[in-house]
Amino acid sequence: MAKSTINIALIGQKFMGKAHSNAWLKVAKFFDLPVEPIMHTVVGRNKEELKTFAARWGWQNHSTDWKKVISDPAIDLVDIGTPNNLHETIALAALKAGKAVACEKPLANTFQAAKNMVTAAKKSHKPTFVWFNYRRVPALALARQIINEGRLGKIYHVRAQYLQDWGGPETPLVWRFNKKLAGSGAHGDLNAHIVDIARFLTNQEITEVSGMAETFIKERPLPENPKKKGKSTVDDAVLFLARFTGGAIGSFEATRVATGNKNGNQIEINGEKGSLYFNFEQMNELMFYDASLPQHLQGWTNILATSPGSHPYFYAWWPDAHIIGYEHTFVNMAADICKMLGGKKPEVPMPDFEDALKTQQVLDAALLSAAKKTWIKVNSIK
Ligand SMILES: NC(=O)c1ccc[n+]([C@@H]2O[C@H](COP(=O)([O-])OP(=O)(O)OC[C@H]3O[C@@H](n4cnc5c(N)ncnc54)[C@H](O)[C@@H]3O)[C@@H](O)[C@H]2O)c1
Repeated sequence: MAKSTINIALIGQKFMGKAHSNAWLKVAKFFDLPVEPIMHTVVGRNKEELKTFAARWGWQNHSTDWKKVISDPAIDLVDIGTPNNLHETIALAALKAGKAVACEKPLANTFQAAKNMVTAAKKSHKPTFVWFNYRRVPALALARQIINEGRLGKIYHVRAQYLQDWGGPETPLVWRFNKKLAGSGAHGDLNAHIVDIARFLTNQEITEVSGMAETFIKERPLPENPKKKGKSTVDDAVLFLARFTGGAIGSFEATRVATGNKNGNQIEINGEKGSLYFNFEQMNELMFYDASLPQHLQGWTNILATSPGSHPYFYAWWPDAHIIGYEHTFVNMAADICKMLGGKKPEVPMPDFEDALKTQQVLDAALLSAAKKTWIKVNSIK
C-alpha cells in the first residue's frame, strides 16, 4: 500500500527556512517514516530570492502570500519560520484552516499570544509542534535518559547558559532588536531554548524566578543606512535564578554579547549521585560524573553519544564516532513530526503548543521579575 503523504508549506526562507528545508529534504532518506513529507510550497517576501531558493531546495511551488497558501486545501502542515511576531497570526490562521502546525521558538512574543495559540490548537484538534530542536541532539536525549534511569538521584542544581557574541555595537538594527517583532532579545531567542532543555531533562517545572535584564547597546546602525542609528528596544542579556518543582535550584543566562562565545549553549546538572555537562559547541559529547562508582574510579567521563546501537537517533545516521552537526537536530525533529503524523511515538517527547506555553510562562515571569526587581511566581502569569 502506498504511504500517505504530508504536503508541507514552509513560511520563511532565510536561516530557519534553510534549516527546515534541509530537514524536509533529507528526513525520508535517513529515517523510515510512516508518512512521506512532500515539499509543496515555500513562502517568503522576496520574489527573486524565493525562486532561486525553491529551486535549490526542491520546493514544488513558491509564493509571497502566506494567507493564500494556508487556505490551499492541498496543504496538510504549515511550518512557521518567520520572525516571532508572526507566529501567532499565522498559526491561528493555519489552525482555523484545519492544518497541523510546526512553529519555530519562542512560541510567541508574549504569554497571552501563546495562550491564544493553545486555545486555537485545542479548538482545531490538529497536532502542533514547536521547533525546540536541541531536545533532539542525541547527547541531550541521552542526558534525559540518564536522569530518567535515576543515575543522578535527586537533582540539586541546574546551571544553564546560552552565550553568543554576534550582538556587538556594529550589528545592525535587524528585527531581532525590535520588541514589536521579536518580543524580547537574547531572552526569547536563547533563554527559550535553555528553559526548554532544563524542563526536558529534569521533568520538573520552574515555579518561581528572579531576573535581571540589560540592554548594553541602546542604539544600532540602521540596516538600510548604516550611517544612521535607531533605538534597540530589547535586552542584550537576561539572567535569572529559578526554583523547580522537584526542589532543584537553577540559574539561566542568555546573552548576545559574551565576547568569544559563538553558540555556547551549555547546561550542567548536579544530583546526589552524579552530574551531567553538555555544551553544544561539542554537541556529540556528553560529560557524566558517576559518584556511585568506587572513589578511586570517580571522574568525569566524556561519552561520545554517537553509537547507532545505543544512543538516541543514531540508528538513522552513521557508524560509531562518525559525528553529526547542527542540521541533524532539525532532521531528527522532522522525523519525529512525521512519525507523530503517522500515528507513531516520537523518540523523545515533542513540545506542542501547550508544552511550549509553560516555557513562555517562565520567560514572561523572568522579564516581569527583572522589571519589578522582585521574585515572581511563574503561575502568577495568567
Ligand atoms: N530553533 C532554532 O535553533 C532557531 C534558530 C534561529 C532562529 N529561530 C527562530 O526561527 C524564526 C525565524 O528566525 P530566522 O533566524 O530564520 O529569521 P530570518 O530573519 O533569517 O528569516 C525570517 C524569514 O521570515 C520571512 N518573513 C518575514 N515576514 C514575512 C511575511 N510577512 N510573510 C512571509 N515571510 C515573511 C523573511 O522573508 C525571512 O525569510 C524566529 O522565530 C527565530 O526565533 C530558531
